[in-house]
Amino acid sequence: MSDAAKLSLDGKDFEYPVLSGTIGPDVVDIRKMYGQTGAFTYDPGFTSTASCRSEITYIDGDEGVLLHRGYPIGELAEKSNFMEVCHLLLNGELPTADELDAFTGTITRHTMVHEQLATFFRGFRRDAHPMAIMCGVVGALSAFYHDSTDVHDPVQRTIASHRLIAKMPTLAAMAYKYSLGQPFLYPDNSLSYTGNFLRMTFGVPAEPYVVNPVIERAMDRIFILHADHEQNASTSTVRLAGSSGANPFACIAAGIACLWGPAHGGANEAALNMLREIGTVDRIPEYIARAKDKNDPFRLMGFGHRVYKNYDPRATVMQQTVREVFAELKVNDPVFDVALQLEELALNDPYFVEKKLFPNVDFYSGVILSAIGFPTSMFTVLFALARTVGWVAQWNEMITDPDQKIGRPRQLYTGPTQREYVPADKR
Ligand code: CMC
Repeated sequence: MSDAAKLSLDGKDFEYPVLSGTIGPDVVDIRKMYGQTGAFTYDPGFTSTASCRSEITYIDGDEGVLLHRGYPIGELAEKSNFMEVCHLLLNGELPTADELDAFTGTITRHTMVHEQLATFFRGFRRDAHPMAIMCGVVGALSAFYHDSTDVHDPVQRTIASHRLIAKMPTLAAMAYKYSLGQPFLYPDNSLSYTGNFLRMTFGVPAEPYVVNPVIERAMDRIFILHADHEQNASTSTVRLAGSSGANPFACIAAGIACLWGPAHGGANEAALNMLREIGTVDRIPEYIARAKDKNDPFRLMGFGHRVYKNYDPRATVMQQTVREVFAELKVNDPVFDVALQLEELALNDPYFVEKKLFPNVDFYSGVILSAIGFPTSMFTVLFALARTVGWVAQWNEMITDPDQKIGRPRQLYTGPTQREYVPADKR
C-alpha cells in the first residue's frame, strides 16, 4: 500500500499518512483530519476504525487466525496453561520455569478477598443474576483496595492487575454459592488456579473436594480460549473507561457490564438455551429457516462474528473439549448432537455460506459448561473471569501508550437546530 492516503473534500486535497503494523491491514492516520478539513469520519460500531496501537493480540478474521503475542491460540490451548497465558498477555513473553513459579505464587497469594465483601454479597437478592453481582462486587473492590488505585503508579497498577486476576475466581464462586444458599469457601492455595476455582464452586466445607484432572484441564483450556480477543466491545469499554483515569476495578466492572449483553459474552448462555429449545435434530430445519427469515428477529446464537469470516479457531478447540468432557463424565446429552447437526446443516446452507457465518467460541462452550455442572446464568461469569487478564493487559497497555488520550468519539448530529423555549401553558 502507498504511504499516504488522499482525500478530496470541498475542492481541496488532503494527504494522510498510512501506518503499517507488523502484520494485518494498514491504517490511515486521520488524527489531523478534523483540524484540517472540519469533517469527521462516520463509522458506527467502529467497523473500519483502529482505536489504538496494540502488541497483545492479533486476529485475521478471514483466515480464522488468533495469536496472543504471536502464539496461535490452538497451540496455547494444547500445550500451555492459563497461568502461563496470563503471564504472556501481561508481560509479553512466555515465562521461564522460575518466572512461572514466581508469577503463580503471586497470583495465589492474592486469592482471598476482604472479609467484609461477604457482607456486601448479602445485600443482593438470592435470585440476583450472578453477572449483576459481579458488576457490583468488582466495582466495589475499589472501595476495599485503596492502595492499588493510583493508575499513574506502575507498582500499584501491577498489584491491581494481580489482585483482579486472583480474586475473580473467588468472587465468581461466591456469586454462585450465594445463589444456592451454600456457605462461601475460602481459597485453598495448595490447588491450581483452576482447581481452586472448581473447589470453591462445587465443593462444600463439610466434605473434602477432589479435583478431577480432566475437568480441571478442560476448564483451564476454556479460560485460555477466552483470555483475550483484541479490541472487542468489552475490552474497548475497559479502555474507554480507563482513558479518563478511572481506577482499574471500576474499569473492569465496566467491561463486565458490557460483556453481559447477548451479542457478546451472553451469547454462550443464549446458544445453549437455543440448542435446548431446538431439542431434537428433526427441528433444526425449522430454526435454520427462522434464522434466514428477514421478518423474524431470530438469529442462530453462537453463529457469526464481527471479525471472523471463517471458522473461529476457538470453536475448534471447544468442540474437541466437549468430546473429552463428555467421555470423562459419561454424559450423553442430545444437545451435543443437535449442535453438531446444526453446524453441519448451516455450513452447507447458501445463506450462511454467502454471509460467512461460522460457529463462534460460544456455540460449544455452553454445552461443556453445562456438562461440568454450571447453570447457564454462570456462563458469562466464567467468560468474565477468564477475560479479566485480557482486559487488564489492554488497560495497562493503554495507560503506558504515549498516544493515549481520553476517548471522545464525535457524532453526526441529526436532531433539531436551535429553537426557542415555549412555556408549558403555551405548548
Ligand atoms: N444468524 C442468522 N443471521 C445472522 C447471524 C446469525 N447468528 N449473524 C449475522 N447474521 C446475518 C445478519 O442478519 C446480516 O444479514 P443482512 O446482511 O442480510 O442484513 C448479516 O448476517 C451480517 O450481520 P451483522 O449483524 O451486520 O454482523 P455483525 O458483524 O455486526 O454481527 C454478531 C456479529 C456476532 C453480533 C452476529 O453475528 C450475531 O448476532 N451472532 C449471534 C450472537 C453471537 O453468537 N454472538 C457471539 C459473538 S462471539 C463471542 C465474542 O467474541 O464476544
